[in-house]
Amino acid sequence: MAKITRVRTIRTRRNGGWIIVKVETDQPGLYGIGSASDWYQGDAVVAAIEQSLGPRLVGRDASAIEDHWQSGYTCGYWRNGSILNTALGGIDMALWDIKGKEAGMPVYQLLGGGSRAAVPCYAHAGGNTLEALEEDIRRYVADGYPVIRCQLGPYGGGGFIPAERAGRPDGAGAFPSSSPGVFDDESYLENVPRMFAYLRDRLGFGVKLTHDVHEHLRPHNAVTLAKLLEPYRLYFLEDNLSPEQVAYYRQIRQQCVTPQAMGELFVNPHEWLPLVQERLIDYIRCRVSKIGGISAAMKIAHVCEMYGVQTAWQEGGDNDPVNQAAAMHVDMTSWNFGIQEENHFTDEELEIFPGHARLERGHLYPNASPGLGIDFDEEKATRMLDRDLSRKPRHMAEDRRADGTAVRP
Ligand code: CO
Repeated sequence: MAKITRVRTIRTRRNGGWIIVKVETDQPGLYGIGSASDWYQGDAVVAAIEQSLGPRLVGRDASAIEDHWQSGYTCGYWRNGSILNTALGGIDMALWDIKGKEAGMPVYQLLGGGSRAAVPCYAHAGGNTLEALEEDIRRYVADGYPVIRCQLGPYGGGGFIPAERAGRPDGAGAFPSSSPGVFDDESYLENVPRMFAYLRDRLGFGVKLTHDVHEHLRPHNAVTLAKLLEPYRLYFLEDNLSPEQVAYYRQIRQQCVTPQAMGELFVNPHEWLPLVQERLIDYIRCRVSKIGGISAAMKIAHVCEMYGVQTAWQEGGDNDPVNQAAAMHVDMTSWNFGIQEENHFTDEELEIFPGHARLERGHLYPNASPGLGIDFDEEKATRMLDRDLSRKPRHMAEDRRADGTAVRP
């Protein structure tokens, strides 16, 4: 039996955005790694691991993953927040890594074995003009990506109008904004369907396309958008509503058959369970680390399987190669896997993680090593970190409507 001797976190990437958890044991050379990255509240996650969840586990049996998850989940009484979940998730991944190493098997073998040869991913294509977007999509198709997300520039792109043409009241420009333009629902409803009309005209229906609304629209306009996009047969429409307005998915279902993907902001089972049980969404898109790791993702995948909902685990650009590996192991075994969001890293970043997932022609491949198959070079990780940069407070982009109102991101 391997006993846990220490749980710690190591910050890396140049900007310090990655938080890697290392769970050490009393067995020589036996440890596990997990991802607890949080771009906005990293210090809070580190404190949750190093001052609360980690010390509690010292001396306990590393093999009791489910017990550590369940007892850790309620150890601060309050639960289901993104910070605690991320801390639990990082530890959970590390414990699965240890279990795989002890068993001499890749984690996906322990979870049920492979349901597929590799993990298909969707790419992020973008462009500020339709022509540039089309070119980017063609490039990803040629690269072998089976599904491609199409965006007109940044999130909300297609919905921004120049501030001077927005009819703004005096003083609206005083609200801080990340974008030079202002966001306008009607402009979005005009331009995004036009984008898909153009893309289907040029590319045909053989290419699988998605779009991410990133919650920008007012709920009734989200219903309208899903209906307007119906003729273009999307693979899915992502984050069409904000988590606060998911009840509108019932109206969307009544109006059209555009497939819906939702969940990257979900941290609480009560957020996704009704949507799955009522079959109001088609793809669940949580981030594996934000729901509590591999143990939680497997449970969600199994519930979704019963209701015919597929998985499409989230991978933001702020995510690290360890979270990607954890998602890949769940993807490999889940029968109701749909698609995995892509992520990519620089060669210098990947050097920190020997055994990282191999991304080739739009598919992720695990290796045959026991555990998560990914290791962590602490020395290189520490050398890469720019401490000043990592201490800078970080906030989500702020978009505004014409009168200055903040748009949900
Ligand atoms: Co998204």
